[in-house]
Amino acid sequence: ATATTADTFRPALHYTARNTWLNDPNGLIFHEGVYHLYYQNNPLDNVWGNMSWGHATSPDLVTWTEHPVAISCDEEEDIFSGSIVFDRDNTSGFGTDSAPPLVAVYTSAFKPGSAHEGVQAQSLAYSRDGGYTWTKHAANPVLNRGSAEFRDPKVIKYDGGAGSYWVMVAVEATDFQVVLYKSEDLKSWELLSSFGPANATGGVWECPDLFQLPVDGDPENLQWVLTVNLNPGGPNNGSAGQYFVGDFDGTTFTSATTVTEGLQDPARLGEYQWLDWGRDYYAAVSFADAPDNRRLMIGWMNNWEYANQIPTSPWRSPMTLAREISLHTREGNLRLMQRPVGDWAALADPSKSFRLSETTIEDSTHILDGAAGTVQRIDATFTAGTADEFGLILRANGTHGTRIGIRPAQGTLHVDRRTSGHTDFHESFPSIDTAPIHPTGGAYTLTIFVDRCSLEIFAQDGQVAMTELIFPAPTSTDVAIYSLGGTAAINSLDITQFVA
Ligand code: FRU
Repeated sequence: ATATTADTFRPALHYTARNTWLNDPNGLIFHEGVYHLYYQNNPLDNVWGNMSWGHATSPDLVTWTEHPVAISCDEEEDIFSGSIVFDRDNTSGFGTDSAPPLVAVYTSAFKPGSAHEGVQAQSLAYSRDGGYTWTKHAANPVLNRGSAEFRDPKVIKYDGGAGSYWVMVAVEATDFQVVLYKSEDLKSWELLSSFGPANATGGVWECPDLFQLPVDGDPENLQWVLTVNLNPGGPNNGSAGQYFVGDFDGTTFTSATTVTEGLQDPARLGEYQWLDWGRDYYAAVSFADAPDNRRLMIGWMNNWEYANQIPTSPWRSPMTLAREISLHTREGNLRLMQRPVGDWAALADPSKSFRLSETTIEDSTHILDGAAGTVQRIDATFTAGTADEFGLILRANGTHGTRIGIRPAQGTLHVDRRTSGHTDFHESFPSIDTAPIHPTGGAYTLTIFVDRCSLEIFAQDGQVAMTELIFPAPTSTDVAIYSLGGTAAINSLDITQFVA
């Protein structure tokens, strides 16, 4: 692969560490008016290793400031993924009643030669200054079941029919199980139940999350959602995230969306519920304490298949945009919808906005004059015609570029990144990835965020999401529309150009 410089691919709209490696988002929390993003970080290099929690903050989920490493690995342990809670009532005693602490619950991955060699167990650290400096608890680990694959604790405050206490969801990764624990003080934990294996089990289960959402916006009708990341075994290979909708009674999560037959059958992947169908949306978890009860998630924009090889330097891996998650009834089923959140207005250049309406796409490829750019938001609505396939080619140069195609007869949306730019750093990168798509009132609607090394596609108002890394030359800036084997129609196409 060609060595590239930092700023060719450095995203304009997405967070990256300045000079180092990152993977999973950790400890997402909104606290004292600030969004905190901690993350799996190698403070010394741009490949996985020396796992510690890096830290960034944002007032608006759009602009991020990197801070010093929050929780560092040492001779005993790597600091794997986990979560943070605001311990309002100082149940842990790490703060005071008038100055309650933030408490991080993370996985200690114990190193060879350490006291708990080979074990993954859950540990605590606390912050008394709003999340900027952290102290490891002296009596770590606080929850050890002697397992080598017990990780990624997400702690929430449960307040329901069964009482009020902390609940942890974590995984036994190679058993395809989510394990649930309860605690009054974050220090002593009692096993409640386990969930799984269920639905997609083609790879280890990692980074679970559990939260409640109103159905169709009705605050009287709440359902529980359990999200589980898995690697590999995603719908288009490698890392991905699935979700289950159901009930949590304070002890047990019961899924209403489990497919009971054909476990581990690759042919059933399309029946499971995926947070994102693209190749590069992993380890997604939600913010604690987001304003207005919103459920906001961020994923790691990469895939373990090729994560350590993507052609960027000195940083490696972006985070996705933050997404607001909501739950809706669709054809009698409960389905998550997602929309990207952020106020990007200040980054937009209104003098360069592009608009097209009521246009027939004649058979072949048409580059749009005045639409070129490297960092864009595209809102497009299409109606099928006689074409077998139609869509957009983005970050294009001539016929090269990334195709976003719709095939009405197949009911599919696909991203073809075989000629998207640098693809030769890993054999599984130049792919065609597919998701289901169904028109609404005859219309196919796409919202796409284009950045220097990524595409995030939200189809049909966020019923389907697809996130993909791409590494185009900075000069590949064209936007084209195309159709194959006939015509299709553009109802409207709006492009916002961001100041890149
Ligand atoms: C997921 C994961 C987690 C683990 C972390 C280690 O990407 O494998 O299960 O805690 O990364 O960096």
